[in-house]
Amino acid sequence: MSMFSTGILVLTSPLQTLPLRIAPVLSSAAQLVDRTLYVHLHPGLNLSSGSQPRPAFLPPVVDLSTLIARLYNNAADVCGHLDVRVLLTNIRAQPSACGGTAAPNSPFPTPQPLFHCPEVVLTDFAPQDPHQSRQVKQCLEKYAGHCYVCRPGISSVLLHPQPGKQQQESQDAARNGDERKAEPMETYSDVVVGGTFDRLHGAHKTLLSVSCLLANRRFVIGVCDQAMLKKKVLKELIEPYSVRVQRLREFLQDTKPSLQVEIVPLEDPFGVSIVDPLLKCIVVSEETRKGGEAVNKKRIEKGLPLLVLHEIQLLKDAHRDEIEEEKISSSSLRSRLLGTLLTAPKDPSHLPPTPYVIGLTGGSGSGKSSIAKQLEVLGAARIDCDKLGQEVYQLGTEAYHKVLREFGSEILNEDKTINRRALGAKVFGNQERLKCLTDIVWPEIALLVKRTINQAREEGKEVCVVDAAVLLEAGWTDLVHEVWVTIIPEEEAVVRITERDGISAEDALRRLHSQWPNGKQVEHANVVLSTLWEPEVTRKQVLKAWKLLQKRIQQKKER
Ligand SMILES: *[C@@H]1O[C@H](CO)[C@@H](O)[C@H](O)[C@H]1NC(C)=O
Repeated sequence: MSMFSTGILVLTSPLQTLPLRIAPVLSSAAQLVDRTLYVHLHPGLNLSSGSQPRPAFLPPVVDLSTLIARLYNNAADVCGHLDVRVLLTNIRAQPSACGGTAAPNSPFPTPQPLFHCPEVVLTDFAPQDPHQSRQVKQCLEKYAGHCYVCRPGISSVLLHPQPGKQQQESQDAARNGDERKAEPMETYSDVVVGGTFDRLHGAHKTLLSVSCLLANRRFVIGVCDQAMLKKKVLKELIEPYSVRVQRLREFLQDTKPSLQVEIVPLEDPFGVSIVDPLLKCIVVSEETRKGGEAVNKKRIEKGLPLLVLHEIQLLKDAHRDEIEEEKISSSSLRSRLLGTLLTAPKDPSHLPPTPYVIGLTGGSGSGKSSIAKQLEVLGAARIDCDKLGQEVYQLGTEAYHKVLREFGSEILNEDKTINRRALGAKVFGNQERLKCLTDIVWPEIALLVKRTINQAREEGKEVCVVDAAVLLEAGWTDLVHEVWVTIIPEEEAVVRITERDGISAEDALRRLHSQWPNGKQVEHANVVLSTLWEPEVTRKQVLKAWKLLQKRIQQKKER
């Protein structure tokens, strides 16, 4: 069957039976769609009634927010690669017939445009008689086109595996529904939430969607920036503020375009929530409930009205491993990125295809060399640039004479070899002199690196790892196919350097500050690794990175 990049799934099962059906329906949908899956809820929709059904308003009931949480939770389990978005445009208290403003009587007076145009419409609706399929599909395509701007000639697929069963269920549900009245949801004019919103995932989407259900006018979102990110795990991998805001806007524009969305940077734990007098409700999770209570305390102090605390149930994550927290969180999603390809490698056409060369770099104490050694054990040829750096200073080399000419004979030992300590003292703290030295030495080291790579090729090595602290500063990225960067937080690096090299914390910091900061190195990285956790965790990470690398090399060969 052909694959579509964007699909829209119309769920017609009644609210009571839908929860059990979501996972199987989502996994069938994931076999047809590979990027964005929109979900449109229309419980009870009958696509084989003989007349064309119209979209209707769905009142916001408490069950709906539970359902949405489950939907995003199941999506993470069964179709984690898909960007799932539950569309909420049709969810609203029924516009009353009387009343001042003329409310529209259809949720879609005109078809709503979406960021990704649906190419296929799917449904869990099952006609009782399989012969009706064609009619049902036509009806579904028309229905989808009435609600959203879809690709002309959109295809449709009926996902339901067991025809007939659904009707029985809906009748049962209808009977139950009589007994169990759906509890309406309280809504508020102005709702606020806060968070980092890094790489929008199911828990974020649940929080945002429930907030959208609660808000009937304005939705204010505080997004962590600057100071609020300092203490975060793997903060270097957090998407830039502008990207996170863009993703939020896109998600909310798709899911509830009628809402007035205001996104503001959060520089402290309170931000806009203790300033805005119009806010009525703050949405929190179990973990952030205390934060919500603190907001109200501040609001009392400032004479502002209290906020209603609406707590949502966060999802359990089925895919976590030992270094991740149990709840789906951005930091555990970030830790999953370690060892994976974050950005595609640059065009390597100027390089010989073999060996495939990894440039491995990272700050002092980041565990770069231990990772290089692990890669060597896995089969890579390791090229230690520290060692090559010592070679270029050898008596009689090109660099030896240039350095001597530039810095004078007072840098020589009695045996005419270069005294690295004396040379170091001459350039220490002097940018210009340091550049003068590196301009001499770095090109010479680069030549040695190239030569060593050629040797590795002759020895039949498939992969080389160039272990180079200055890879990026020296501009050696042209020598390698991929850049891998190891990072650890600065405080941890200081501890490691002082223990390993027996220097003071100030000196360790000075050394770290003379290098590129983690964030800047990560900008140039194709793959990021971290040795922050136990050695066993690092080992697994390196193995994962190695396996993924082998796959890339294999794919390259097949092309
Ligand atoms: C849809 O409507 C038709 C015609 O009224 C009816 O026969 C059928 O049982 C309905 N299907 C469902 C699932 O309610």
